[in-house]
Amino acid sequence: MNSLDTLARPLRDLRISVTDRCNFRCSYCMPKEIFGKDYPFMKQADILSFEEIVRLATLFSTLGVEKLRLTGGEPLLRKDLPKLVTQLSKIPSIKYITLTTNGVFLAKYAQSLLDAGICRVNVSLDSLNNEVFKAINNMNIGVEPVLKGIFKARDVGLEVKVNMVVKKGLNDEQIMPMVRFFKEEGINLRFIEFMDVGSSNGWNMKDVVTKKELYEKIHEQYPLEPIDRDYFGEVAKRYRYKGTKAEVGFISSVSETFCGSCTRARLSTDGKLFTCLFASSGYDLRTLLRSDTTDEEIVERIRNVWEKRDDRYSEIRTEESTSKRKIEMSYIGG
Ligand code: GTP
Ligand code: 5AD
Ligand code: SF4
Ligand code: SF4
Repeated sequence: MNSLDTLARPLRDLRISVTDRCNFRCSYCMPKEIFGKDYPFMKQADILSFEEIVRLATLFSTLGVEKLRLTGGEPLLRKDLPKLVTQLSKIPSIKYITLTTNGVFLAKYAQSLLDAGICRVNVSLDSLNNEVFKAINNMNIGVEPVLKGIFKARDVGLEVKVNMVVKKGLNDEQIMPMVRFFKEEGINLRFIEFMDVGSSNGWNMKDVVTKKELYEKIHEQYPLEPIDRDYFGEVAKRYRYKGTKAEVGFISSVSETFCGSCTRARLSTDGKLFTCLFASSGYDLRTLLRSDTTDEEIVERIRNVWEKRDDRYSEIRTEESTSKRKIEMSYIGG
């Protein structure tokens, strides 16, 4: 039997980083001081080609992966991304192809992404206030192009979710404006607890606004009722604003962890397999792809890595582990 379905945490979801570059420099992900002009981004030759990505996605699908998420860096910076989506959508057992983006180029590509086979997009937007937003992205980009991207994506028929990372003192004043705006628009907004991903974002527990705090703040003004989980491994706890169809969600990766149902593998831009967002090293698949290793052999290597996986980083987070060297999120995707 090929699939890994008998494991308590089967392999269902493959997140593919298609570029390590981004047009933003968010302080909690790619701080400008580190990701400056001289930062050694990957060379073309080190990056997986579309052909290599499709080959790997096909092999992962034989192990039970049914959902692909394209991520980055900023995935829309990868040239001809819709062409990759078209190729991925031909893999028979892949049910969903989704995309995580900062939204700046979304208006331009929404239609071609939908046509190519993307079903859902997650757009990161941490503020509606231009000044706050510019302070977050550090690139002097205002919210307008992102909102344009969100509406265009919705208008062409993509399912859209907005993700807001909340960091105390940075954008917590924006919680209620974001709630009101997206509730009114009927767009699903999710709050993500600020995480200690990577080694460069200066994370401190004091900066985290927890799900409980967020929930109470929102519930006080707009009473919420819980919605049942959609599928095993869903990361967001979802609620409906009473009396409406609009939803809000919380991704409580710090205060209420969800490692026990983590079915997500991550493939970096240069072809390393990571079994946890907080890993410090990955398993090199690119070398196998570029050798005469057969498909069957590669599948066996992946199976072996996944079967041995014991990652529970968020559950066992300690002061010591938060300062450990970890891979950057811009390298393996969110
Ligand atoms: P789909 O239902 O597949 O569309 O997923 P989703 O829309 O709920 O969102 P996604 O899986 O992209 O997760 C949203 C955010 O949650 C990510 O951008 C991360 O910040 C965080 N997150 C996702 N997966 C993990 C994980 O495995 N571990 C941790 N700690 N955080 C995660
Ligand atoms: N903590 C939580 N979420 C983060 N993201 C990036 N860095 C962090 C962090 N340190 C989010 C992005 C995006 C998704 C890919 O992950 O804002 O929504
Ligand atoms: Fe910001 Fe996302 Fe770019 Fe990181 S990858 S800098 S979170 S837009
Ligand atoms: Fe999965 Fe690691 Fe996140 Fe836990 S910390 S949910 S094991 S990616």
